[in-house]
Amino acid sequence: MRSTLAFSKECLIVGLLIGIVIGYAVGFMIREREVEELRQQVSRLSAQIEQLRGVVQPLRVLAEKHGIYVGAAVGADQLRIKEYAETLSREFNILTTENALKFERVHPERNVYSFAEADAIISFAEANGMKVRGHTLVWHNQLPEWITRGNYSREEWIRILHDHVTTVVSRYRGRVYAWDVVNEAVDEDGSLRETIWLRNIGPEYIELAFRWAHEADPEALLFYNDYGAEGMGVKSDAVYNLVKTLLEKGVPIHGVGLQMHISTEYYPAPQQVAANIKRLGDLGLEIHITEIDVRIRLPADSKSLIRQAEIYRDMLEVCLSYKKCTAFVMWGFTDRYSWIPGFFSGYGSALIFDEHYNPKPAYYYILRLLMEP
Ligand code: XIL
Repeated sequence: MRSTLAFSKECLIVGLLIGIVIGYAVGFMIREREVEELRQQVSRLSAQIEQLRGVVQPLRVLAEKHGIYVGAAVGADQLRIKEYAETLSREFNILTTENALKFERVHPERNVYSFAEADAIISFAEANGMKVRGHTLVWHNQLPEWITRGNYSREEWIRILHDHVTTVVSRYRGRVYAWDVVNEAVDEDGSLRETIWLRNIGPEYIELAFRWAHEADPEALLFYNDYGAEGMGVKSDAVYNLVKTLLEKGVPIHGVGLQMHISTEYYPAPQQVAANIKRLGDLGLEIHITEIDVRIRLPADSKSLIRQAEIYRDMLEVCLSYKKCTAFVMWGFTDRYSWIPGFFSGYGSALIFDEHYNPKPAYYYILRLLMEP
């Protein structure tokens, strides 16, 4: 009796053990199959990604098909950063010298010019088949002390500005595609801005600068550049009248730059920008969007990032719909290097790549628009 009991207990144990082993084996096989399926899925996906790589082209390639330049403002120091330089040269075909050619940087003392930074940017552009926008010859900001504290006669002021424009433009003759000759000369109310140049030379400083720049490089396109004059309004009317008068006087001016520093909360209606681009184009001028960024009140969330993407896309769409609008340049491209957080407190995330060089929704919206024929 006892041995029968012991026997069936042993059977039970053996049976259980066999069951466990079989269970494990089956479980293992199922997991193996799942793993194999996952492996196949991954390899299918990477094949698809590889295929897409061939199909989805960088912005610059697509922009070229539309006959426009797509670009960014850059600093010389950043060009040494591998990811920065790689993204830049892959995606863009025009660069703006963000600060390198501003008066205080390039001409810090009366007899000292400092071209190293601009040289680096322009060489980088050339090495990567990119055009250059030179920014900027005449402006009221970022001036050296020998200018802001200078006490000169009108003739001397004229000579100083003449030498500055001539020296800088001549150095890069044939290498700068477009110059922002005069920057922000018009005030919000439409009058000429009260600047050191207006005060000391008079309104003629504007046309003089264009004539000198043209003498120094007859091939370069010469632009008047301003902010807050993108849509229709008092300021853009004044810019329109200014450039129209310059043209009538035979001043060599070839284009108007619309800076377009805007936000997801406040931006001109695209139809207004269209109307402004149209009237400027009808004067025979080219239009460049020169400094677009679309700042977001922080923290940015998916809603504001999508709103930003729509605004970038809508502004690009306006530009694409006018033959005379020939460049779409952002004031930077990665949120890692942007002037916005330093100048607009509480705002940021204004560009189309994040701080780690990952494309943001705005990048994809621009890409998708450029992919349309
Ligand atoms: C900004 C630069 O991005 C900053 O680095 C600098 O400290 C200040 O100027 N309009 C212009 C640009 O024409 O030159 C300005 O650039 C931004 C506003």
